[in-house]
Amino acid sequence: MSEIGVKLPSGSYSIHIKNETVSETFEKIKSFTDGRNYLAVISEKVFRLYGKSLTFNKNHIFILKDGEKEKNFSNYQKILNKALKLKLTRNSVIIAVGGGVTGDLAGFCASTYMRGIDFVQVPTTLLSCVDSSVGGKTAINTKYGKNLIGTFYQPKVVFINPVFLKTLDERQFKSGLGEVVKYAFIEKSCLCEEDFHLINLLSEKTTEIIARDEKILSKIIEICLKLKVSVVEKDEKESDLRRILNFGHTYGHAVEKITNYKKYTHGEAVIAGMKFAFELAQNKNLIDKNYKFFALDVIKKFGFLQIPNFDIEKINKIMETDKKSNGKNVIFILPTDYSSVDAFDYE
Ligand SMILES: NC(=O)c1ccc[n+]([C@@H]2O[C@H](COP(=O)([O-])OP(=O)(O)OC[C@H]3O[C@@H](n4cnc5c(N)ncnc54)[C@H](O)[C@@H]3O)[C@@H](O)[C@H]2O)c1
Repeated sequence: MSEIGVKLPSGSYSIHIKNETVSETFEKIKSFTDGRNYLAVISEKVFRLYGKSLTFNKNHIFILKDGEKEKNFSNYQKILNKALKLKLTRNSVIIAVGGGVTGDLAGFCASTYMRGIDFVQVPTTLLSCVDSSVGGKTAINTKYGKNLIGTFYQPKVVFINPVFLKTLDERQFKSGLGEVVKYAFIEKSCLCEEDFHLINLLSEKTTEIIARDEKILSKIIEICLKLKVSVVEKDEKESDLRRILNFGHTYGHAVEKITNYKKYTHGEAVIAGMKFAFELAQNKNLIDKNYKFFALDVIKKFGFLQIPNFDIEKINKIMETDKKSNGKNVIFILPTDYSSVDAFDYE
């Protein structure tokens, strides 16, 4: 079991990582809520797989259908209406059990319900374990783009149980690995006190990672979260350093949008974005050929789905509307050295 503390001006919280039964995780959630009124927002698939162990009162559950498209206004409204119907007060809790879609949406609901009530994250995908459940970004999508409506709102506690990851399908597991690889490429820029050499770990332990070895997965989750916490503690609201977490995302979000959020997973799109960034960085002489080939080789080892190149004019148009654009320029996070990145403005 490991515990990571997050210290922020807006409040501190703990991330608990433990391989245990789902019933044990449920007991922890229950003892956190401690008799308070609650609403559990649970991913449909997770409920199907683990509903027997997640014995919330069935009237207090909102089942969220699968898919990026579900992170929308309509579900936001439905969840808030259900919370009102259940008479949740400012002392109540919203619990998210699922992947990043469930966590982002439930977190947005918690942040706006009665101007903010307690929120618990129980991530069940690799992507949400290593990234989205921590750091407090909540959001919904609109037809104008992804995550354009949202808040910064930290959970009160995060319970991570890597046992959930056993039932993830291969594609979703790899999607999470996309964010893991991102942390390897940005490690030094995260300014964490500890050195992990994640890029070497990924390179040396690829087989064990792909086989979902429990020990190595717990270690990887812990490393990624320590890196993320280091960044978020220094820049909670993304005014500067936190932008590095968007490595691969500017192009990646454009890929997701151009394919209507249906064709590729978030992690697959981020991998395409990182490859694009490595090419761009080498063209601009920010990195040498050796590092680019090494990085592309690490990516290749994990056998991510290959995404074709899109019409760059169309991609550019979408990137201009990205939140990471400042209205005039597109801000790109580009590699500058081994495991280091920086932000650059491009017209
Ligand atoms: N808030 C942040 O900081 C942040 C960071 C990165 C990504 N995100 C967001 O996260 C979202 C992607 O998250 P995701 O990749 O977790 O996708 P997701 O939430 O859509 O989950 C992927 C699929 O896995 C299924 N699933 C979940 N847990 C499972 C389990 N244990 N076993 C079997 N199937 C399971 C889900 O039902 C779903 O079909 C995107 O919307 C992205 O924008 C947010």
